[in-house]
Amino acid sequence: MKQTILVTGASSGFGLLVASKLHKDGYTVIGTSRNPEKYQTKLPFKLLALDITDDNSVESFVKQLFSRISQLDVLINNAGYLLAGLAEETPVDLGKQQFETNFWGTVKLTKELLPYFRKQKQGKIITTGSFLGLIGHPNVSYYSASKHALEGYFKSLRFELNQFNIRVSMIEPTYFKTNLGENATVSQEEISEYDTFRQKIDVYTSNAVKNAPEPGAVVDTVMKIVNEKKPRFSYPIGKGTSLFLTLQRFAYNAFEGAILKSVNKTKI
Ligand SMILES: NC(=O)c1ccc[n+]([C@@H]2O[C@H](COP(=O)([O-])OP(=O)(O)OC[C@H]3O[C@@H](n4cnc5c(N)ncnc54)[C@H](OP(=O)(O)O)[C@@H]3O)[C@@H](O)[C@H]2O)c1
Repeated sequence: MKQTILVTGASSGFGLLVASKLHKDGYTVIGTSRNPEKYQTKLPFKLLALDITDDNSVESFVKQLFSRISQLDVLINNAGYLLAGLAEETPVDLGKQQFETNFWGTVKLTKELLPYFRKQKQGKIITTGSFLGLIGHPNVSYYSASKHALEGYFKSLRFELNQFNIRVSMIEPTYFKTNLGENATVSQEEISEYDTFRQKIDVYTSNAVKNAPEPGAVVDTVMKIVNEKKPRFSYPIGKGTSLFLTLQRFAYNAFEGAILKSVNKTKI
């Protein structure tokens, strides 16, 4: 029998593509959005309302979910957004909001669903981290921190759920074309000493977004994890990921130098 799969943030970007592919391949798919009414008519799979930052929304969503389905085979934690800006120029409150969605929202939903997974004694939890959850990078300190936090949480959870036959994995994509850039929050506080660096990193980031590839590789990787019996924990996706991880591990100065060099040579 085909599996039942929940995809959060299925109104746009990776979530929309993954949910659509799963539906096309015959899986039972439930997607989520904060505004399902805005998207439902255009989608072939069911979209339920969920704001992962809101405790009441998470609780009522889970009730609604299990009034529709009796078993959940795969949870795909995908909802999230990008907070961009230099660390010193970003108010800490914006950073906290970033964690409320990317980290706490993901954790809260997962925790709410764990009793169901445990009872079933099987399942998969696949979370969209980011390559920026494996490396640091200028202009994305809070985003990177929220994705690093997810790595630590799910890496630990994987040990605890192994005994229940529940597999925990993360995908860690580099930049791919989605609406992440348009939906990003960008810090507005400006400290003049950063002017040149900020202008360069802004151009560098928008070039990276503009030239990002289509997200086919992300969809393929999620499909692979869904179909794998014992998926591993970490799936970095995108050009240069192996090289950067190797440099970071064995030649940290070269790793940092390569990133700073490409930012500094950006024409503004
Ligand atoms: N694109 C990239 O290059 C890239 C790279 C690495 C990782 N990622 C990660 O991939 C995931 C998907 O992003 P995307 O690139 O596909 O961006 P996107 O096109 O902006 O899609 C983001 C999705 O997240 C949902 N969402 C945002 N805040 C939410 C909240 N508080 N509660 C529930 N849903 C929420 C949105 O749904 P509604 O607005 O309809 O609620 C939307 O469906 C994110 O976790 C992102 O960090 C993206």
